[in-house]
Amino acid sequence: MRKGFLLLTAASVALASSLTACGDSSSDDGDSGSGSGSGSKPKIGVILPDSKSSPRWETADRKYLSEAFKAAGVEYDIQNAQNDKQEFQTIADQMITSGVNVLVIVNLDSGTGKAVLDKAKAQGVATIDYDRLTLGGSAQYYVSFDNVAVGKLQGEGLSKCLTDMKAKKPIIATLNGSPTDNNATLFAEGYNSVLDPKYKSGEYVKGPDQSVPDWDSAQANTIFEQMLTSQPRIGGVLAANDTLGNAAIAVLRKQNRNGDVPVTGQDAGVQGLQNILTGDQCMTVYKAVKKEADATARLAISLAKGEKGDTNATVEDPEGKRKVPSVLETPVAIYKENIQDVVDDGFVTKEELCKGKYAALCTQAGIK
Ligand code: BGC
Repeated sequence: MRKGFLLLTAASVALASSLTACGDSSSDDGDSGSGSGSGSKPKIGVILPDSKSSPRWETADRKYLSEAFKAAGVEYDIQNAQNDKQEFQTIADQMITSGVNVLVIVNLDSGTGKAVLDKAKAQGVATIDYDRLTLGGSAQYYVSFDNVAVGKLQGEGLSKCLTDMKAKKPIIATLNGSPTDNNATLFAEGYNSVLDPKYKSGEYVKGPDQSVPDWDSAQANTIFEQMLTSQPRIGGVLAANDTLGNAAIAVLRKQNRNGDVPVTGQDAGVQGLQNILTGDQCMTVYKAVKKEADATARLAISLAKGEKGDTNATVEDPEGKRKVPSVLETPVAIYKENIQDVVDDGFVTKEELCKGKYAALCTQAGIK
């Protein structure tokens, strides 16, 4: 884990160890070992948000970012704030003190994200908003997916599943993501643009609609239980990610209604895909995190060298009223028929997906 430790200069060893001492077990210091230890090498700090709202942060983002930084031969430090805003700021302070040239953050909310970005900027550290835009923030770049497109795929996905089931005037429940995550707003913009016209025309009936603080699965569970009590005839669930989808599925299972009520998701993690294999979840959205991580590493390295980075989009920050140069990747809808694409991409392995009771379902679904 502390590979290349000996190559660091004495000063950076002291800093790196103090970082490790303060950090938790999820800290991931890396050094490609290719440098001379002169200290002129770019150093990039990344703060991930938590490890519960989605498996992606620890299983995909950490892995792909580390691989990209290693391949580029830069020093890096990836830490996880574990959904603690205080810890988020502490990690940022440590990283700035340790001399990172670039700070990459996934904010826990725009307020604390902005404080960290402004502080970094004041210290001459370049900044990148990773996955979540910090509203009113000062990040130089933003790297993410087209998040309105993610939401559209969810709305269209739910509607395809309802058509396949020949549902008549289904009542739709909506579990939105965290109200403090700008992505949740964008996802909702996307799926509501598909579903609102259907409510208007009377094809679907709008049911309960609530946001889930921190994308927390326990709260999603309670919220959905209440939804189903107040409206027992819910016939479809727009869940903004696989964690929320799984919480709704758990409630439906208790009532033996799993599989009869299509549920959406996002992130294409092992559990989400397994819920699709069992038929309890209808679809998910796959976001190739490797592309997001690679684009971030490329940008971070350009910034560390004082160069401008390559972008393919401009995103408007509605609060800060500024245009943020961005890289946006494209999301893909996943149904039982194309789970194989996620395996082929190396995002999940057949071994983890098709373990135990899922082996037969994988065979049925033709997973190779
Ligand atoms: C990300 C999703 C993730 C969610 C919860 C969002 O900002 O875009 O991929 O599921 O946060 O972690």
